[in-house]
Amino acid sequence: MHVVSRFFITTPIYYVNDVPHLGHAYTMVSVDALARWHRLGGEDVFFLTGTDEHGLKIAQAAAENGMSPKEWTDRLSPRFQNAWRRLNISYDDFIRTTEPRHYETVQSFLTAVYENGYIYKDVYRGPYCVSCEAYYQESELVDGLCPIHGRPVTIMEEENYFFKLSAFTERLLEWYDKSPNAVRPSSKRNEALGFIRQGLQDISITRTSIDWGVPVPWDGEHVFYVWYDALVNYLTAIDYGRDEERFRSWWPNVHHVIGKDIIRFHCVWWPAMCMAAGIDPPANVFVHGWLLVGGAKMAKSAGNKVDPLELVDDFGLDAVRYYLLRDTNFGSDGDFTYEALTARYNSDLANNLGNLLQRVTTVIANKLGGVAPSPVKDSPLAPIAAQMMGQAQESWNDFAPQGALEAVWSLIHETNALLEAVAPWKLEPGPVLENVLGDALESLRLVCIAAYPVIPDTASKVWSRIGLDGSPNDQIAPASLGWGLYRSDKKIEKGDPLFPRRK
Ligand code: MSP
Repeated sequence: MHVVSRFFITTPIYYVNDVPHLGHAYTMVSVDALARWHRLGGEDVFFLTGTDEHGLKIAQAAAENGMSPKEWTDRLSPRFQNAWRRLNISYDDFIRTTEPRHYETVQSFLTAVYENGYIYKDVYRGPYCVSCEAYYQESELVDGLCPIHGRPVTIMEEENYFFKLSAFTERLLEWYDKSPNAVRPSSKRNEALGFIRQGLQDISITRTSIDWGVPVPWDGEHVFYVWYDALVNYLTAIDYGRDEERFRSWWPNVHHVIGKDIIRFHCVWWPAMCMAAGIDPPANVFVHGWLLVGGAKMAKSAGNKVDPLELVDDFGLDAVRYYLLRDTNFGSDGDFTYEALTARYNSDLANNLGNLLQRVTTVIANKLGGVAPSPVKDSPLAPIAAQMMGQAQESWNDFAPQGALEAVWSLIHETNALLEAVAPWKLEPGPVLENVLGDALESLRLVCIAAYPVIPDTASKVWSRIGLDGSPNDQIAPASLGWGLYRSDKKIEKGDPLFPRRK
């Protein structure tokens, strides 16, 4: 029996204190492309995203806008869903932490932790950053300010329930030791290990000072602290505690993609919580960098937010998606500029890809009556394409969209170079002209499949212009990535330029 492998991929769930910005869009487009790539590989993919709706930050945003937290989150969560629709994000489930299914899961998961003896009651006093929704130790503050936001902290004192994180130091170190790829890239794995080696202190996981949260089932005075509720979303969506079979089928295949600011929560707390509840820690966490603007992190408080939808209106959807994944090595920080976006648009999309399609379709229209010739088996492009497609696959599998795009654009480049060398527009119809155009069509077919995860609309458009049926999405990689599968006699459509040049 053929067993289809499963790929469960998650994004962080976004705080709804404000509308989404380009940094959030960066995470979403990256994860969307990875999900699409794995679907192309014939895997059964479950792509989860959502909104994180509890906690002080959201309660404060609601109050500032004269609304109840519920009214506010009901208004803001759809703004995220709408933005993701406009960005063509192919998620399978969108979770809101205010949904009943989530309350039920948080309560059953944390009851398991409580019953296993890892939760106790005590008084907590310490510096708290509302923007992070996290307590810090005095030693972690920078000049008395939050180390992430550089903002003043509040001293909070409450009677809380605590999670015995300290009991997991050894088990976490063992887990890291035997799962070298659980947290990637290795620089981020080392950062997480650094936190653990410093020694772990128990953490407070409930609040009595606010009631905007999931109630603690065994003590009605308390609600769970927002991070504790948020992390559990990954289990809610796969029916932990409700449908054992479904949960078991997805959980071992989880891939959490997160930004570098939330490493401690996902790479220290979360695996420990899972262990405490008696389930395996998450199998894979991939940490990406930030997309900066002028060197600074985008934030409401910094007033430097870029609206992804305005960029889409201006440059077109696929240009924005392409730029986000092409210009930054996934894992490092990137810096957004209009100049870089315009440069990528003009060079990679208008000149390289756009011109290739335009040249090929124009010459076929003019010289071959719009009917496609076939590629040559031992074309000079065949070994180049094999190497590029191998590199693209490897990069996709390594969570490296930038590498995949680099490989695909090298093939575009080589194909344009071959066309320039042979110059079919100067030739009379005959085998030389037909061969080079057939090869170029075959390159375009491969480009469509390997670039589809990033630029799905464009890839589908090119696909149909070169006469292919369906969409690149119907293909199964890697079988479809072999050279020579393009068939002749297709009707080629010479349409408008894909990406008109910009000033
Ligand atoms: N609600 C928590 C996550 C809970 S997950 C169980 C949270 N939300 S957030 O809205 O502040 O951030 C969500 C994600 O967006 C994080 O991974 C964060 O790193 C990412 N980004 C926020 N700004 C970003 C950039 N400027 N660039 C890239 N990613 C950015 O944290």
